[in-house]
Amino acid sequence: MDEALISTINKLQDALAPLGGGSQSPIDLPQITVVGSQSSGKSSVLENIVGRDFLPRGTGIVTRRPLVLQLINRRSTKSLPSKPDKNDLLELENEHPVKGQSEDNVDEWGEFLHIPGKKFYNFDEIRQEIVNETDKTTGKNAGISSVPINLRIYSPHVLTLTLVDLPGLTKVPVGDQPADIEKQIKDMLLKYISKPNAIILSVNAANTDLANSDGLKLAREVDPEGTRTIGVLTKVDLMDQGTDVIDILAGRVIPLRYGYIPVINRGQKDIEVKKTIRLALEDEKRYFENHPSYSSKAHYCGTPYLAKKLNSILLHHIRQTLPDIKNKIEITLKKYQAELMSLGPETMDSPNSIVLSMITDFSKEYTGILDGEAKELSSQELSGGARIS
Ligand code: GDP
Ligand code: NA
Ligand code: MG
Repeated sequence: MDEALISTINKLQDALAPLGGGSQSPIDLPQITVVGSQSSGKSSVLENIVGRDFLPRGTGIVTRRPLVLQLINRRSTKSLPSKPDKNDLLELENEHPVKGQSEDNVDEWGEFLHIPGKKFYNFDEIRQEIVNETDKTTGKNAGISSVPINLRIYSPHVLTLTLVDLPGLTKVPVGDQPADIEKQIKDMLLKYISKPNAIILSVNAANTDLANSDGLKLAREVDPEGTRTIGVLTKVDLMDQGTDVIDILAGRVIPLRYGYIPVINRGQKDIEVKKTIRLALEDEKRYFENHPSYSSKAHYCGTPYLAKKLNSILLHHIRQTLPDIKNKIEITLKKYQAELMSLGPETMDSPNSIVLSMITDFSKEYTGILDGEAKELSSQELSGGARIS
């Protein structure tokens, strides 16, 4: 049921995108946003969570538009409660892989909202499309844009999650960047993280001073209690010998309610020699298990633990915000019903009426959940990382 809940929310988010898109969606659905300084490792963290190579990464400003990334576990789509009429509408969107191809051949693929119907089975092509689509709105010379790219990844090997990759905080303009680049990026990030439904993944390089973290400062501005911020410490492998992040983990530097999770991503050289994620995850595990500072708590370190924790925080957050989401859906529903009525019966086949049906469906389905919901978060913890095999 949890998987179905997140999956339905993801679908709703997509259905509503044409009505305003991304951060302007009329309904604020919970999602995980990544913030931090430029090159702190935000895109690397996301990629590791997904378990596939597909994001542009590197030194300098690489991520220059928001990327709204929906991970969808395909099994969870199938396990949605069966309601034939409504499911037909949901299936419209989920349209099946190339005819004649067996399930085995279509293990994982990506789809962009701006290229409807095209399935990308090659993840290098996904990366190239992100680069092309970024250049299209921002030019090639380090410009930025707040217009999001929407990408969904379908896979039996991921947990269903929505993540947003964002450009990093930077101070000095380069290339075609405007003089007020710092303010522009800050405003863009604020637009995403100031919403109460945003879970903030604050990414900080462990070899920089946490007290100077602009990302964390921004997160604290919009979430002073730290009730929706989780800290990620990257580049633990690059710390000076004899130093570690134990004080930060223990909450003795800047405490966060959800704490901090140390991770090790691939370095620039690893990217160049195309080191696989699988190998990187093995090395990460070995690093924490063998390091004198971390070996006793290796269980609470690394990417798989981060993914697991993210998922349980997301579920917890969705539960807390469901009553609010439900209200907003009902208001939106009334608004579109009124609009459709005023347009007359011939419009009932328009895309809007599909959206309307989905909202109705969602509304009905989750009224029941809201009324009966009383489970403890602790019993909801899912095993394994985002990548489940
Ligand atoms: P972003 O700008 O925050 O999205 O950062 P990227 O993910 O693009 O990474 C910036 C650079 O830092 C790349 O060259 C990465 O290879 C490198 N990097 C990121 N995380 C780590 C890490 O944990 N260890 C090491 N050694 N390098 C990292
Ligand atoms: Na970068
Ligand atoms: Mg990036």
